[in-house]
Amino acid sequence: MACTKYLHISSIHHPNHFPLFKTKFSTILNLNLNLNFPRRIVENKAPTVYNSIISHETWTSTDRPIRRSDIKRLIDQTDENFLRTGKFGRYGGIFVPETLVISLNKLADEFQLTLYDPKFQAELAIALRDFVGRETPLYFARGLTDHYKNSNGQGPDIYLKREDLNHTGAHKINNAIAQVMLAKRIGRKNVVAATGAGQHGVATAAACAKLSLDCTIFMGNVDIERQSSNVLQMKLFGAQVKPVEGTFKDATSEAIRTWVEDLDNSYYLAGTAVGPHPCPAMVREFQSVIGKETRKQALEKWGGKPDVIVACVGTGSNALGIFHEFVRDKDVRLIGVEAAGTGIDGAKHSATLARGEVGVYHGAMSYLLQDDEGQIISPHSIAYSLLCRIEGIVPALEAAHALAYLDKLCPTLPDGSKVVVNCSGRGDKDVATVFQYEQEQQPQ
Ligand SMILES: Cc1ncc(COP(=O)(O)O)c(C=O)c1O
Repeated sequence: MACTKYLHISSIHHPNHFPLFKTKFSTILNLNLNLNFPRRIVENKAPTVYNSIISHETWTSTDRPIRRSDIKRLIDQTDENFLRTGKFGRYGGIFVPETLVISLNKLADEFQLTLYDPKFQAELAIALRDFVGRETPLYFARGLTDHYKNSNGQGPDIYLKREDLNHTGAHKINNAIAQVMLAKRIGRKNVVAATGAGQHGVATAAACAKLSLDCTIFMGNVDIERQSSNVLQMKLFGAQVKPVEGTFKDATSEAIRTWVEDLDNSYYLAGTAVGPHPCPAMVREFQSVIGKETRKQALEKWGGKPDVIVACVGTGSNALGIFHEFVRDKDVRLIGVEAAGTGIDGAKHSATLARGEVGVYHGAMSYLLQDDEGQIISPHSIAYSLLCRIEGIVPALEAAHALAYLDKLCPTLPDGSKVVVNCSGRGDKDVATVFQYEQEQQPQ
């Protein structure tokens, strides 16, 4: 297939390598923090509380009250600097006006409390099961597996983590429902969010409807046109959809501006690993359910771990969600695929890690695509559909980027190795775009 030129790959093998940042020497990210929080810390120091937080059974069966002061003490005992500062080495952090810092610090405190609060965790577990529809299957993709066999009939076994089967059609709901619950817990009345492709907007609007919070979604005018079915869904859920001149980054600026105007009542709900601390930390934590389930399901299905996990990297949330659980497993290769559009040497791509530069974007330091004025160049992705024909599954265009990398990856893998691709969402929203693209590719 002629897809490989559209992809850029970041391959991560080392436990301290992380998909959001890159070293001077490569596109691989370097991160010096304890990526297993809160498990390792709490496990070492307070096994009883650890059990009530981590074990699903205990979440849903205990009403044992736990005092706020105990939770706070537990947090203070930890040596986890990250959750206090949000710093990943030189990256992340909080780059916002002083007035916002107080609010963000309060939010960071509340977020930490929810991590240790069995009642919140029990409610979240029930919402994930009964509202979101978790757990999502780890699906053996027989068609893809056969497709990628070599002439000797050998090749890897390919599995899909079916985040497309979540309520509202993508992984975004895992984070949205948890953060809306948090917003409600801290007494906020309305939630503001920005969305690009619309999946985060739909997920946030659905979660707000469920929890009776007002919801305002900002969206670039081009995206509104392109993703009209998602816009209609948001409206059906009772959200206000506000058009913004420009794209996702402009919509995000507008959402943050709106939030800042009424910090006491409104809650800015970040849909991805972007923004000042604690936004990326929350997204990572609430998406990590994907990887936790994957580990358990792999053990059930073949009695081991995946050899390779592949995820698309847009702004990082689905990749973080599936990678985070495995970052310490040296024997699991983690591969993040960025959209390289018409090639990463040109301007029409989304390869932030491969071609981005360090800068401050929406309150945090990260890798960005910038032009000379320091503005963000609109990401431009081209993808294609393969899964529809081979598996009867319509993937989101974003997920199709990860799938496209199988072309390159599969011939390099030993027979029978286990590959998991995160199918981050379903592609109903993209059908017209793919159709038009395929028409344009037809010879005249
Ligand atoms: C289905 C799906 N997958 C992936 C992404 C990329 O975002 P992220 O990198 O945060 O997972 C999006 C963004 O909207 C999406 O809708």
